[in-house]
Amino acid sequence: MKQEKIYLKDYKGPAFSVDSVHLDFNLNEDFCRVRAKSAIKQLTAGSALHLNGVDLKLIAVKINGQELQPTEYQVTAEELIIPSVPASFTLEIETQLEPQNNTSLEGLYKSSGIFCTQCEAQGFRKITYFFDRPDVMTSYSVTIEADKKKYPVLLSNGDRIKTEDLGNGRHKAYWSDPHKKPCYLFALVAGDLGVIRDTFTTTSGRKVNLEVYASHGKQDRCWHAMDSLKKAMTWDQDVYGLEYDLNDYMIVAIDDFNAGAMENKGLNIFNSRLVLADSSSATDTDFHSIESVVAHEYFHNWTGNRVTVANWFQLSLKEGLTVFRDQEFSADMTERAVQRIEDVDALRAGQFAEDAGPNAHPVRPESCMAVDNFFTMTIYEKGSELIRMMQTIVGRKGFRKGMDEYFRRHDGQAVTTEDFAAAISEPNGKDFSQFKRWYNQSGTPVVSVLEKFDAAAGEYHLTLEQSCPPTPNQPTKEPFHVPLMMGLLDKNGKELALNCEHITQNTDGKHLIELKDHKKTFVFKGIKERPVLSILREFSAPVNLHWEASEDDLYFLMEKDTDSFNRREMAQKMGLRVLSNLIAKARKGEALQVDEKYINALSAVIRDPNIDPSFKAKMLQLPSYAVLAQVEPVLDAEAFHKARVTVRKTIAKMNKAALLETYRQFHGVEPKSRDTKVFGHRQLKNQALSYLAELQDPEILEIVNKQYWDAQNMTDRMTALTILADSQSEYREKALQHFHDEWKNDSVVINKWFTAQASATSRPDVLKDVMALTQHPTFNLQNPNNVYSLLRAFSANIVRFNDPKLNVYEAYADKILEVDAKNPQVAARLCSAFNFVQKLDPVMKDKALTQIKRMVAAPNLSKNSRELLQSALT
Ligand code: PHE
Ligand code: ZN
Repeated sequence: MKQEKIYLKDYKGPAFSVDSVHLDFNLNEDFCRVRAKSAIKQLTAGSALHLNGVDLKLIAVKINGQELQPTEYQVTAEELIIPSVPASFTLEIETQLEPQNNTSLEGLYKSSGIFCTQCEAQGFRKITYFFDRPDVMTSYSVTIEADKKKYPVLLSNGDRIKTEDLGNGRHKAYWSDPHKKPCYLFALVAGDLGVIRDTFTTTSGRKVNLEVYASHGKQDRCWHAMDSLKKAMTWDQDVYGLEYDLNDYMIVAIDDFNAGAMENKGLNIFNSRLVLADSSSATDTDFHSIESVVAHEYFHNWTGNRVTVANWFQLSLKEGLTVFRDQEFSADMTERAVQRIEDVDALRAGQFAEDAGPNAHPVRPESCMAVDNFFTMTIYEKGSELIRMMQTIVGRKGFRKGMDEYFRRHDGQAVTTEDFAAAISEPNGKDFSQFKRWYNQSGTPVVSVLEKFDAAAGEYHLTLEQSCPPTPNQPTKEPFHVPLMMGLLDKNGKELALNCEHITQNTDGKHLIELKDHKKTFVFKGIKERPVLSILREFSAPVNLHWEASEDDLYFLMEKDTDSFNRREMAQKMGLRVLSNLIAKARKGEALQVDEKYINALSAVIRDPNIDPSFKAKMLQLPSYAVLAQVEPVLDAEAFHKARVTVRKTIAKMNKAALLETYRQFHGVEPKSRDTKVFGHRQLKNQALSYLAELQDPEILEIVNKQYWDAQNMTDRMTALTILADSQSEYREKALQHFHDEWKNDSVVINKWFTAQASATSRPDVLKDVMALTQHPTFNLQNPNNVYSLLRAFSANIVRFNDPKLNVYEAYADKILEVDAKNPQVAARLCSAFNFVQKLDPVMKDKALTQIKRMVAAPNLSKNSRELLQSALT
């Protein structure tokens, strides 16, 4: 088996350029013909022509109108090679495909009777032989011919030129995209779809037609996506001065889609779960995700499409930047502090785990086997943190100046993360040479904090030391350039003036320490009393802070810090200390008693009427199992569960009346509203309910059951169902049955039913439930959403997935292999379940490794899955 790796150091620019390409699609039920006609020029004289192509049936090749003889070219499993070509020529290639049999969901495929495409990263090579690389940009014109009745809607990128009725029951659409683009941004859709329409007028007066397509009958659920799109268009104009550049913007919702959504030029294709929503079918969280993903894809039009990547190693150039932009957008649309808390929680739970596991890689990787494996939390979420740090260092104004410069220099080009860093730093007179290590070095750095107060001298000494644990291929690291936002508080919680020569203030007025050394002491003068340190405000750098702060200081900051992020962060820190303590006891079989001070502090939060409800909900969250799995030396699922449930139960017991009051205060108030405020109220009262449910009180379960049946929105219904699904309650079966009957024909909503059952942490039978559900008539192993919402949700259920009494790993590995045979990209996403293998105790680790070895040895395992699994063995 070929086991080739590709390396960034081998990257060479293209040997040919393409002036234009015309694609002609002839769509039929059992085959599809593609004719591609390109105008090509040699950039390096004498180069042989190598075109990428996979799973294609080649019908004919012509150069300058002359059909080539089979002796004049070579076809391999991955290429079409023509050894000798003129300096400038027209190339015509005809291929034949079978979209109806394409289960990989890349290239051209069919989803619920609709033809659609997914070309990023390397799907275009499944459509025709071409330069399937992002640094070959060209202008596209497209014609699509299909049955008129079955496929009334024919879409591609750019401008709609015309549609012809061919008279024989078929019709043909003509599209032309004036903007040059790489082939991964090509898209085509053909089907019988419903549509909603609106318009948007840009600052400079361009009237843009906005269209959201979905299967018939689902149009009513498209309006939230439409509203989100208009908000995103407005925001990008206001914040970055960026306008849309075509006359049409289309979004199409598709049921079978490997990822979330795709930013194809002018024709975004979305997983339908990220488009369709109304209050009876979608939760508040769904509405929020839709708004942010619609925005994300829209923002790509500038950060990704107008300026694209030179090669796939630079993926974070567009993804990190665009995630950063969508996070900032969401912060402006909702509550900035709460948004930041959610983004950091996700980063920690997912990306920190990735960075600590066998598949850790730099934000700009050096090598890979499968390019599709680049779509990771490191590239996206850590990438976004890198951009955020740049903004923190140069300030918002400076960052905008840098972004303007980025577009001035690189519009229409395919560039690198180096180019981006230069565009931001140079106009701001900043030196990013050390900062750029963030792109090359993997692993989450650790910053240790040591404090000393010298009362006599009136000096406060802050010593910061950084290190970074070894990661694959990177045993040692150079110091990072770490921006640490900070403040010092007096005993009343007032900010002290910072008299220290190394403190900088960015253009937003934030005080920063820029730690560049391995270790450095910062001296603050004129300090009369011992101050309380608040550091890493807003989580200004993606690091782990080692800080043995006193409990008193942590409780003080929880209450008084002027930085909301840190108030909640200190609550998490205390929560972790308490949980770690209990986990150690549970592992020794000792009785568990929760620290009273901690309970009192959380009780005070519950009762404090002055804390904003959505922020209160964040304050009351205990550290997740995913976080425990990282900070604990051993992943002991049973001990984790015992400890966490004990704390939750104690909180509930000590605050039963107050939690019930919170519940009653907000339950049923404006149940249909989607206002951010109401969203926060709902979140808090549902959190109160889930705490109360820990008590297993018949009276509480009755309230939960009533909420299920009376729910007037999906948030309330799912909260209740999730609680019931994790209980032994008599109400469980009836509610689950009802939800199933209600939504069994709804491809989006039924996934919630899978997830509720796969996420149960207290039921001992989850494995059995999950495996039975894989055989359920509503479950389809070829639908990525079904797989993610059942199998991936189950692997995220750390408690049950690592239950030592069950053979979970074996059953899960069977499913990975089954999925892998049909769809390698989806299978690869399941493999991350084994990222924690080094954290397991010897018996469990052995079980996991046995399964990993079995999968790696499977004869036809895809290189996507192999790459991720193999690393766990080394
Ligand atoms: N580029 C898409 C996004 O982040 C994600 C994606 C990757 C979609 C690969 C499909 C395939 O917006
Ligand atoms: Zn993206």
